[in-house]
Amino acid sequence: MVIVNQGVDAEARDTMPTFDDYLSTDRGKPPSVLWERSTEDLGNDVLPKAAYTSADWRAQEVEHLWKRVWQFACRENDIPVAGDRLTYDSAGQSAILVRTEAGEIKAYRNFCRHRGTRLVDAADNAPEITCSFHGWSWNLDGSLKSVPCRWDFPALSDDEAGLLEVRAESWNGLAFINFDPDAAPLIDFLESLPSHFEQWPGNQLWKAVHVGKVVPCNWKLALEAFLEGYHVVRTHPQLLLYAGDCNGRYDFWGPHARMLASMGVPSPHVGPADEQDVVDAMVRDGFVNTLGEKGGEVQIPQVGPGQTSRSVLADFMKAALTQQTGVDYSEVSDTDVLDTIQYFVFPNVVIFAGYAFPVMYRFRPNGSENSCLWEIMVNVKLPEGMERPPDVPMRMTDPDASWSEVAELQAFGPGLDQDMVNLALFQRGVQQDGYEGPLFSNYQERNLRNFRRHLEGWISQ
Ligand code: FES
Ligand SMILES: [Fe+2]
Repeated sequence: MVIVNQGVDAEARDTMPTFDDYLSTDRGKPPSVLWERSTEDLGNDVLPKAAYTSADWRAQEVEHLWKRVWQFACRENDIPVAGDRLTYDSAGQSAILVRTEAGEIKAYRNFCRHRGTRLVDAADNAPEITCSFHGWSWNLDGSLKSVPCRWDFPALSDDEAGLLEVRAESWNGLAFINFDPDAAPLIDFLESLPSHFEQWPGNQLWKAVHVGKVVPCNWKLALEAFLEGYHVVRTHPQLLLYAGDCNGRYDFWGPHARMLASMGVPSPHVGPADEQDVVDAMVRDGFVNTLGEKGGEVQIPQVGPGQTSRSVLADFMKAALTQQTGVDYSEVSDTDVLDTIQYFVFPNVVIFAGYAFPVMYRFRPNGSENSCLWEIMVNVKLPEGMERPPDVPMRMTDPDASWSEVAELQAFGPGLDQDMVNLALFQRGVQQDGYEGPLFSNYQERNLRNFRRHLEGWISQ
């Protein structure tokens, strides 16, 4: 099937080529899960603004969501060696994640059993966990190791003085924790996602970049800015020549969701475009190679007779991936190397699947309803035969510095700065009297409606 992008009207959805139309032109075999549909009309109501502005709402989230939900804490490769540990802080609670002698990942509440001192404050490696105050120590398996002047605690039972365990379970190279000892297993919580990610294994990826920034808005305002393509036309106009936006596809499974958008094709807002112009723009912006390097010295591929921008860009991307990894990508589908295949893992993580944009985002509250922490991770496939080093630890960046100034993000920085402009404006708008709450669109912002209805379900339990 050939897509003829004529007569497209961005104001009339039924005239647009769809994600499925482009998928059906794929020269490879797209992952079958991309054909799976799971959506429903969630209405057109205005949702309560209190979710963004109310201290009471935030308190409900702390009690009913963050203390009970599975949350991505770190990648398994953040702590690959026995004795490695780091902390994961979430809405006032803190967990220590540790690699044990037996090679498992365990998590403990991050306080001393003596007088409550926070035990671990930075990523480190040591054969035990030792409190900085009086020196009580624990083995990596959480059992009590030693107490200075042990004779002075005659009522202390060693068996009862171990570190308090926090649930820790892993999926696809990612370690999750849950402060609720009675939570259902992680694998059940994830619903369909594990089967979807069978074709995108994360266990062998290496986290090459991990940067964080404090952002002056509610964590949900920040997160929601990444779960829809509706904002592309205004916020990221440079993408319009090579990115589907209002013709993307939205699905959800329980509280988790997916956004699909075709790349290497013009937006319906642009309508028909010269195939070579599409290629030039996408290479120019560094979108066609796995680290987002600027296309400066890259030879821009030419669209030959019978070729499309999409096929040329897919071949270009496959060649770049092969050059970087030594792996043969010739059988990989076009969608896998080009498109936005973005999963949302409730409540706060975004994972881009496929090979086009190997990025994860995480959003966490930061002490008030008006502040959050936004983290960006880039996970890459290493060249065949190369030994995988430990993942790069998170580096906080200056809240006043732009993402473009963060060298690790290379060509992704300017696009993220465009989002950042909005993030800095959200809270100052929504907290004003007279604003009732978000009027999410019916189709393009449907996954936000799904997110909010599940969030409300959690906090009302
Ligand atoms: S508070 Fe930790 S050893 Fe005393
Ligand atoms: Fe954006």
